Amino acid sequence: MTETRTKKKLLFVDDDPAMGKVVGKILDSALGPQVIEFHEAMSGERGLQQARELKPDIMMCDIHMPGINGFEFCKKIRQSALPATVILMSAYDENEDYAIQAKEAGADAFLIKPIKKGELLFVVNFILRIDHLNKTVLGKNQELQEDQRRLSDNLKDIIRMNSQLESQNTRITSMNRELTERFDSTVGLLTNIIELNQSQHRGHSERVAEIAVFIAQRMGLAGDAVQNLKTAARLHELGIVSLPRDESVEDALDEGKSRFHTSHPMVAEMLLKGFPGLEPVAEIIRHMHENVDGSGKPDGLMGEQIPLGSRILSVSSFYDHYRVAHPNSSVSEVLMRVDKQNGKWFDENVISFLAEYARSQSPADDEKVVSCSVFALKEGMELASDIYSESGINLLRQGTVLDRDLVNRILKFNNVDPVAGQVKVKP
Ligand SMILES: [Fe+2]
Repeated sequence: MTETRTKKKLLFVDDDPAMGKVVGKILDSALGPQVIEFHEAMSGERGLQQARELKPDIMMCDIHMPGINGFEFCKKIRQSALPATVILMSAYDENEDYAIQAKEAGADAFLIKPIKKGELLFVVNFILRIDHLNKTVLGKNQELQEDQRRLSDNLKDIIRMNSQLESQNTRITSMNRELTERFDSTVGLLTNIIELNQSQHRGHSERVAEIAVFIAQRMGLAGDAVQNLKTAARLHELGIVSLPRDESVEDALDEGKSRFHTSHPMVAEMLLKGFPGLEPVAEIIRHMHENVDGSGKPDGLMGEQIPLGSRILSVSSFYDHYRVAHPNSSVSEVLMRVDKQNGKWFDENVISFLAEYARSQSPADDEKVVSCSVFALKEGMELASDIYSESGINLLRQGTVLDRDLVNRILKFNNVDPVAGQVKVKP
């Protein structure tokens, strides 16, 4: 099969001009000038000069020539790094193995003179085919390299976009954290205001929040559900600051009476539900006095009709109010009091998790708590309960570890608004 792809330059080097004519004619008639551009040189020296100028693709060179012979010619071509295919030629000599010597000189093929037309075309076509295959592979390699470059560019774009997204996520997370902290601070301020005039119940809202969150997490609630319940617990007595005139604060703070006779949960609901995002909180507080037997207020909901958050808040608030009102009662006695309303006011499941919470408050830790005056506070002590001023301001939270600066600030504030009662600390 004739290869007719790209025109190739062929340099024929032989001191016998008749050979050039014969070979040129064969190639011209078999392949045509559009395939092979034929050039001749009559000596090795002239051949090297033309090779440098023409940069041929194929060189055919006679071995026996005056001056530079075929072997030397081939070695110099190889040294010059010209990417040509070299074919050496020689008459047959039974005493010499020119094919091996041609190979050692760097030749790609060897032809015996006189050159036969079939052998010549076979070798030249073979070289053209190899060249074509090389170019095809080279083209594919270039395409692959281009694909790899595009993939690499795409990968860089993806990495850059990921980096930008991570950066944006970090900023959003930071903003969310800041917003959450501000929200918690605002709710904390409201909680302080709610409890300002409730000397018997200071810290109640935060304790109820702690109990409610414990129960909620044990019951499998997570994320927003727990956060909404925590906020509802901290604000569940918000309505007490704006009770109807015929309702008393004392009754509102008595969980036994308030669940039937006061409307502070609905007042809190009205105050909260106008704030976007606080609707679920308002809903939990509205139903905190529903009873599982349907006897509660305001809608007479029963069992699981009552939102779970409201059922948890209901038991948590009752438990803490009762403990505060009966400081000499043991945890077991308080739990027994709660259990009396099992299946009536309170959800049986929720009560079981409340009992788990109560047991988790280690008696061993209680024994380590001591009461002292504000003047006995020292650096390194941990507060076992919140510190309030006599006017009801929450000065420090339970769990705070005192340092020198905090002790000094408490003592200075004590001169302005004295600390209420003894302070409970873990030395
Ligand atoms: Fe309460």
